[in-house]
Amino acid sequence: MQGRRLATTDEIVAIVSPDSDDVVTRLATWADDRGIGLSTVDVGDDIDDVYDENRATLGVTIGGDGTFLEGIKTFAPRNVPQLGVNTGTLSFLARVEPEDLEAALDEVIHGRATVDSRQQVAVRGPRVDTTGINDVMIEHVPPENPTDRKITRLDVYADDEYVGEFEGTGLAVSTPTGSTGVSLSANGPIHYPANNHTLQLVPLHTHQLGVRPIVVSPETELRIVTRGPASLLVDGGRAHVILEAGEEILVTGADKLAHIVRTSYDDHFFTAISRKLGWDIRGVDEPARSPTSTASGAVTRSAGVSADPQDGGEDADTLEHALTIATEAAEAAGEPLRELHGQVESIAVKSNKSDIVTEADHQANRIITTVIDNEFPDHGIVSEEQPRRILEDGYTWVVDPLDGTGNFAHGNPNYSISIALLEGGQPVMGVVYVPETDELFTAIAGRGARRDGEPIGTTDRDSLDESMLISGYDPDGSFLSQFYQETRGVRRLGSAALNLCYLASGSADATWEYDTYPWDIAAGLVIARAAGATITDERGEPFVFNFETDNRSALLGSNGPLHPALLEHLETDLPERDR
Ligand code: IPD
Ligand code: CA
Ligand code: CA
Repeated sequence: MQGRRLATTDEIVAIVSPDSDDVVTRLATWADDRGIGLSTVDVGDDIDDVYDENRATLGVTIGGDGTFLEGIKTFAPRNVPQLGVNTGTLSFLARVEPEDLEAALDEVIHGRATVDSRQQVAVRGPRVDTTGINDVMIEHVPPENPTDRKITRLDVYADDEYVGEFEGTGLAVSTPTGSTGVSLSANGPIHYPANNHTLQLVPLHTHQLGVRPIVVSPETELRIVTRGPASLLVDGGRAHVILEAGEEILVTGADKLAHIVRTSYDDHFFTAISRKLGWDIRGVDEPARSPTSTASGAVTRSAGVSADPQDGGEDADTLEHALTIATEAAEAAGEPLRELHGQVESIAVKSNKSDIVTEADHQANRIITTVIDNEFPDHGIVSEEQPRRILEDGYTWVVDPLDGTGNFAHGNPNYSISIALLEGGQPVMGVVYVPETDELFTAIAGRGARRDGEPIGTTDRDSLDESMLISGYDPDGSFLSQFYQETRGVRRLGSAALNLCYLASGSADATWEYDTYPWDIAAGLVIARAAGATITDERGEPFVFNFETDNRSALLGSNGPLHPALLEHLETDLPERDR
């Protein structure tokens, strides 16, 4: 989950431990001032009565790690991101201190926090079927007579391979989050938990010194068979059963990840570890952090624009900053699009589909425009979904939150998000993101185009019969009928923004569209031009970008060498066109 998505939060559900009244009062004031809804429930109570899955919800826990764990049980299955405010004592999980509450929340609703995905563990067996964020422990049942045998023997299989017999106090299967708990005291390694999706199996008080912790993937199925009675605990007792001899349990990674919100007010992981474990491998104070690192230490995907001193100055900085924000906004908007696309695929009834498509447009648009507004309040924004605020002289953003609606509505993966920035009315920065393939096309005018950070360029093919063309909307089908036989093919893909990116990256040699709206092509235009494409109108005149919302223009983009041959046909055909 992308932190930028949290910029559209409209509801907070807080799980509150006893003695947190002061913090709750401050939270209520903060939410009220910003028009954000707030519901509070006591730790241990259900949130069903207050949670509305149609509202963009942030989960907050106010308490210590116990309350945070209750939050995980509540929020993770609903895919609700969670921020922990620590009013407890020792806390590894809830890492925002009460005095930073308002500042941390402001960062979250400005979309400037990050969201870590945390692996959970799933356990199934007799009388147990649950998940945990920390660990599953299988231990001996303490004997009535303290001098009796206190060990347990467990046979362990990883998928179908026999690992061996573990003899000792028992076993802990922990997540990276749980690696700082029981398994640490049993000499297990510490896992950096952010976006780390492994599980580890750590023997407890083993009688075989050579037996070491084992790290497995979340897909690995650990099968544990008891050779005598054993006690099974999940997350320190949130689930507990006594197993009989010969019973079998299965442990794997859980399907649902937990989403933990991290702000710059968090105690960082290794700082927390150093303080709490008394490590002396570094001083308690951190050296200065690198500017690209986030609260969780994760580095965001680089759009590949390197700072060029030649290009320096305020404009270059603004464009680079704009490109980073556009990338983050597009990736965040891609999440609800992917989720809703999954629903559209499984729906046969048309009316439901159009509801989903409308919702997809709306959610993506809201995320993108909110993120841009937060970062660049003085810039104009024109979006297909909400035309407004055009700045003739300054910077204006042009957004198509979902290009390729027809494809989206049919469950077809060819759709994209297009975000461009205009300077003085002309596109100078473009980002096109393809949610289903996670491809990211970016460019700043005059500074090259990239796909996923790698430079791209158009083809240099000069003979039509070796070329592959794309046709956008072409009412009389003449482009297709003219070139279908003369080329290796004419494709009709359904997203004008993406068509230009395919031209830019060389997977097509040309693209034609009878009429385009500014938001269909603003970003793709920067990307295609920066990749070396020739872009003209149907007469061969340089394409003039015009962002009057009711103005549509024909666009012919090619690799350059093929342009004359393509124009020849369009020009011949011109008088017949109703333009
Ligand atoms: C449409 C797509 C399509 C193009 C149309 C556009 P939308 O945009 O880009 O490929 O042929 O002209 O309107 O409606 O899906 O955002
Ligand atoms: Ca469009
Ligand atoms: Ca659209």
